[in-house]
Amino acid sequence: MVEKENILDSNNITGDEFESNIRPQRLDDYIGQSDVKENVRVFIEAAKMRDESLDHVLLYGPPGLGKTTLAHIIANELGVNIKTASGPSIEKSGDLAAILSTLEPGDVLFIDEIHRMPRIVEEILYPAMEDFQLDIIIGSEGNTKSIKINLPPFTLVGATTRSGDLSSPLRDRFGIVCKLNYYTTEELADIVKRTSKIIGVGINDDAAIELAKRSRKTPRIANRLYKRVRDFAIVAGLDKIDIDVTKSALDRLKVDEYGLDEIDIEYLTSLIKKFNGGPVGLETIATSIGEEVTTIEDVVEPFLLQEGFIKRTRSGRIATEKSYEHLGINHSYTLFDTIGE
Ligand code: ADE
Repeated sequence: MVEKENILDSNNITGDEFESNIRPQRLDDYIGQSDVKENVRVFIEAAKMRDESLDHVLLYGPPGLGKTTLAHIIANELGVNIKTASGPSIEKSGDLAAILSTLEPGDVLFIDEIHRMPRIVEEILYPAMEDFQLDIIIGSEGNTKSIKINLPPFTLVGATTRSGDLSSPLRDRFGIVCKLNYYTTEELADIVKRTSKIIGVGINDDAAIELAKRSRKTPRIANRLYKRVRDFAIVAGLDKIDIDVTKSALDRLKVDEYGLDEIDIEYLTSLIKKFNGGPVGLETIATSIGEEVTTIEDVVEPFLLQEGFIKRTRSGRIATEKSYEHLGINHSYTLFDTIGE
């Protein structure tokens, strides 16, 4: 399947360097997620007062909302090192054992996409999280023995897009569980203004609001769009990003006033035109538009659901009135039982 380049795909990893330059380093610089932020602040403070490692933290929520940023901030606030890994890259128990054995007392181990870690690797993590012990089996077939190695106390920060995808033994071992939510327009506008100060190309307030409105409630997307709009502004000879260049740049990037991009529109058009508004299964719709099931499920659908463009029913996804209106398509509407979101 051909991967489409998509500026709104917050899973898209290009531009990571840009992201790390503008990433806030301290809790005070982190905009939004105020409940999570204030709770984490207390837990960090208490761990420092007790001179203990912070309890393990699970961060979950759609891609691009700042899970990695928060993991780095937690390490900074604790004044410890952070080691990072991602679930799919830890293929064997030995890979995890190698990472764990490099940890120093109090360190943060950040595992992104922790739900994609193989089960046998996950089992190494249980005693490591619970008792700071590494149980490894050495030797070859027929002549193996199990040895236990003590690990320094550490904090595992796990990130996942859906906490439901985590096995319950793993989920139960996190003392602190934080759900990251979509951002408000005002919060995103503040993030864009903060980014513009770091990058050095200013943006007017109304332009920041317009950009924020079209960013799928997601900071990573707001920052990416800022970068592109900045390019249009520079080429147009402007020294500050204004509302006109913002609107025309976003139109040219095919990001509509709801922040829906070409893939969203293709999804909704296919749902309505090919499947008569649904209900239709996830795999069927993904295949019909040539996208990966995981992209549809983790990136496209959460926002469409949140914004009320689609609903999940017992028998599949259906398009809502809002989708028909947005695409300018008339329809005769049938209601199905929804299973809620
Ligand atoms: N950049 C990305 N996410 C951010 C956030 N939540 N606060 C400040 N800057 C950010």
